[in-house]
Amino acid sequence: MSKEYKILKEAYDSIKKKIPYVPEIAITLGSGLGDFVNDLKIDAVIDYASIKNFPKATNQNHKGKFVFTTIGGKKVLVMQGRIHFYEGYSAIEAVRPVRLIAMMGVKKLILTNAAGTPNKKYRPGDIMIIKDHISFFAPNPLIGENVEEIGIRFPGMTNVYDPDMIKVIKKVATKNKIKLQEGIYCQLKGPSFETATEVKLLGKLGVDAVGMSTVIEVIAARHAGMKTAGLSVITNMGTGISKVELSDDDVRETAAKIAVKFEKLVKGIIANL
Ligand code: HPA
Repeated sequence: MSKEYKILKEAYDSIKKKIPYVPEIAITLGSGLGDFVNDLKIDAVIDYASIKNFPKATNQNHKGKFVFTTIGGKKVLVMQGRIHFYEGYSAIEAVRPVRLIAMMGVKKLILTNAAGTPNKKYRPGDIMIIKDHISFFAPNPLIGENVEEIGIRFPGMTNVYDPDMIKVIKKVATKNKIKLQEGIYCQLKGPSFETATEVKLLGKLGVDAVGMSTVIEVIAARHAGMKTAGLSVITNMGTGISKVELSDDDVRETAAKIAVKFEKLVKGIIANL
């Protein structure tokens, strides 16, 4: 057994009695995007702090728990809060929640995040379907001994953002008259925001949304055989385009402003997947 699988198995065994069902879909909620969960009928909650070998979320905006709930008749696992590389965890530790949900039998994962944009045609408050990503600047969570029990050594990344899931997202957005952008997401290590030069460079590379999460999770999810889709909420123009100093508070404030639209979209997507 690989070393990481042993760790994951212990984590799984420590909570298996608390898992109420195999969720049909899981969703990760990004900065400032997790509040709507409070209004849902909750079937079970598992705090990351209660899971053996699990990293603890240190970011105050990220609560760190699995919430089992029912949305639009579907059994859903909401991953409220996530673990980031910038918190000092390794990429392998940061993707443990994703691998654990794969062990629970989850087959589809929607990842959401708050992001800045180097794209001058975008505006804060825009919601972007992630079409593809650039992983070069983030640590790869698959480096090290391969977790054979979960996936292969060299997983491909063709259509890693599932075209069928994207079709559903577009259909739901059109039905609800929600305008969506579609673009490329790039994960940086953080936690410092980018310089103006870095934002310019990312723009030249064709990046439309920049954040500090998601890509390593998508890689781990693909490795584990899950289908994934991603949504970025554009909370700010990148440094240099925006003349004001970025702050996490502003990111959260903008995310909160579109919360109603975002919630409608997400619930519609889940019901239709
Ligand atoms: N850069 C990186 N991560 C972010 C940003 C940003 O501008 N906004 C929200 N998350």
